[in-house]
Amino acid sequence: MANATLFRDCTLATLHGGDWGLIERGALLAQDGAIAWVGPERDLPAGLVVHAEQSLQGALLTPGLIDCHTHLVYGGHRAHEAELRLQGATYEEIARAGGGIRSTVAATRAASEADLLRSACSRADALMREGLTTIEVKSGYGLTLADEAKCLRVARALGESRALSVRTTYLGAHALPPEFEGRADDYISAVCDWMAPLHAQGLVDAVDAFCDTIGFTPAQTRRVFNAAQALGLPAKLHAEQLSHQGGAELAASFGALSCDHIEHLSTEGIAAMRAAGTVGVLLPAAWYCLRDTTPPPVAALRQAGVPMAVSTDHNPGSSPCLSLLTAMHMACTFWRLTPLEALLGTTTHAAQALGLHDRGTLALGQRADLAAWSVNHPNELTYWLGGQACTGRAVAGQWLPLNT
Ligand code: NIG
Ligand code: FE
Repeated sequence: MANATLFRDCTLATLHGGDWGLIERGALLAQDGAIAWVGPERDLPAGLVVHAEQSLQGALLTPGLIDCHTHLVYGGHRAHEAELRLQGATYEEIARAGGGIRSTVAATRAASEADLLRSACSRADALMREGLTTIEVKSGYGLTLADEAKCLRVARALGESRALSVRTTYLGAHALPPEFEGRADDYISAVCDWMAPLHAQGLVDAVDAFCDTIGFTPAQTRRVFNAAQALGLPAKLHAEQLSHQGGAELAASFGALSCDHIEHLSTEGIAAMRAAGTVGVLLPAAWYCLRDTTPPPVAALRQAGVPMAVSTDHNPGSSPCLSLLTAMHMACTFWRLTPLEALLGTTTHAAQALGLHDRGTLALGQRADLAAWSVNHPNELTYWLGGQACTGRAVAGQWLPLNT
């Protein structure tokens, strides 16, 4: 059945052409889930078929926010490790002592699918209160075929239980599970073998790996990417986070959608990403929580024209962050992104980092995924720190007000 909702009485930030694309007193028609008309209200063509009208009462309307890098599905939490870090232990020391990712792996294996879904839903609810309409969710805390499948099924179920698009990423190469101690190459063989059955079950949209001193080597990462390529799956990479490994060049050589973290990215890595059209995903909340001191080379990325996305990297270890607006604020405050770059980083460029071409701007034919905000100008989205600026979301044209 045809369905057309006219959103009116709002200021639009269309992000057209990579700018704010502001339209005062704007209107937007969502028809059958997509944007069928957008512009100043006074230019609305006569005779538009409209089934429902939604006054936004002067709100700012932006594309719905996209969190393009999260580890949302896991059991337990690691507050005790955060406390150890406050006393001086480093993330790497905790990981090498058997804590870190491995402790979450144990808790995730022990958790039921229902429990994992319940906790993932409550985290997603927090993110949706800030205008989130699309989220990427990685596996990587199961590290057996059955447990990776379990986590990816939970991610898919999240998309069924909430008005939210979920993209899944297989991150079997996240950490070495204890049963493969001393046999990292064998584990990578298993990670590659599991990929086809997971993909056959419709559980995988992209493939990621953690290429670092406490993760996997570039050679091992290459094997994972070769397997992904053979299945036609796009690559993403946790690259150059704690050290420089040349992972960015490697990922770019596979046409990766994104390289994420990238604090230790080299000039060569930037050039390779630029040539491959790979998005740089900035994760300031992880950097902040780990009290890291090496910032990503934002000015060089900007100068090279590498698109930058911003994400929470939500995970129980390095980034227990449930606020994409806070991550945007941090990207501006710590790394001097402009407020416009931060918003592009959670809309247009975040969509690109997920290989999605149907969202991230307010333009004709795009999905009518929207976020409404009680602010006058979009630069306020990275100005306020906390508060409740989001007044509602629309997902595929369906208006979902927030009951504040
Ligand atoms: O993106 N760097 C590796 N993976 C996660 C952290 C995972 C964890 O500590 O549980 C990250 O920061
Ligand atoms: Fe991550």
